[in-house]
Amino acid sequence: MRFDVCAHTYDEHAGPQRFFAERVAQFIDAKPTETILELGAGTGALTRWFGGLTVLATDASPTMVQRGRVAVPQVQWAALDAFQQSPPIVALQVSSGLLHWADDPAATLVRWKTSLASHGRMVHAMPCEPCLAEWRALVPESPVPWRGEDEWLKIFECAGLRVSRWESWTHAAVCASALEMVRGFHRTGVTGRVRVGPGRLRQALREYDAKQQVPGGVQATWTWLVVEAR
Ligand SMILES: C[S@@+](CC[C@H](N)C(=O)[O-])C[C@H]1O[C@@H](n2cnc3c(N)ncnc32)[C@H](O)[C@@H]1O
Repeated sequence: MRFDVCAHTYDEHAGPQRFFAERVAQFIDAKPTETILELGAGTGALTRWFGGLTVLATDASPTMVQRGRVAVPQVQWAALDAFQQSPPIVALQVSSGLLHWADDPAATLVRWKTSLASHGRMVHAMPCEPCLAEWRALVPESPVPWRGEDEWLKIFECAGLRVSRWESWTHAAVCASALEMVRGFHRTGVTGRVRVGPGRLRQALREYDAKQQVPGGVQATWTWLVVEAR
């Protein structure tokens, strides 16, 4: 992942992430009594929905934190590596688009659980199968492992958490072309671990353009899962 170097182009290409962040905020339904810690807050796509509440928004990327601070100045911002450092203890811990980047999500959740206040809750959201399946059918190499809803729910349970609610959503995003879509992946910073040769990439782009045509360009299916656990 290259989030820090891509922080300046993230917002322009993160339409699906913003789409889901709004739904995640509705799902969370934060109460004024709950102090919120957001992990992997990026530029504040989810943070902006917590108007009037006490929020500490954090991210491992200092550039994301800088941009988030400008975009959502009414909350507190700080740099925090959620996979290496212990988060501060709060009643409500949230994230959108972070947990699937953990090498061992169950072990990460075990650590995050220790930062929940008693009677606190966590709400974490992440892409899940069949997110971007049309593209992955052509280019299976991926910077993250893809898991379905059942596998994610098991991961929460393996971490000793009780899942109290969950929901998933699908969003059809339209890009001008497959090339624009892949440029979008790069410019949000989600690529980097995987390299695909130029010949194969060109072939995949051609096939995608041919197979996924819709009015206005090509379509990609995005799927997001949100889980509340205690
Ligand atoms: C896909 S973006 C999601 C950002 C934002 N939550 C949104 O919905 O637009 C993932 C974010 O996680 C951050 N991130 C990646 N690894 C992290 C880590 N170990 N600790 C904290 N943040 C991390 C990245 O810097 C990036 O801002």
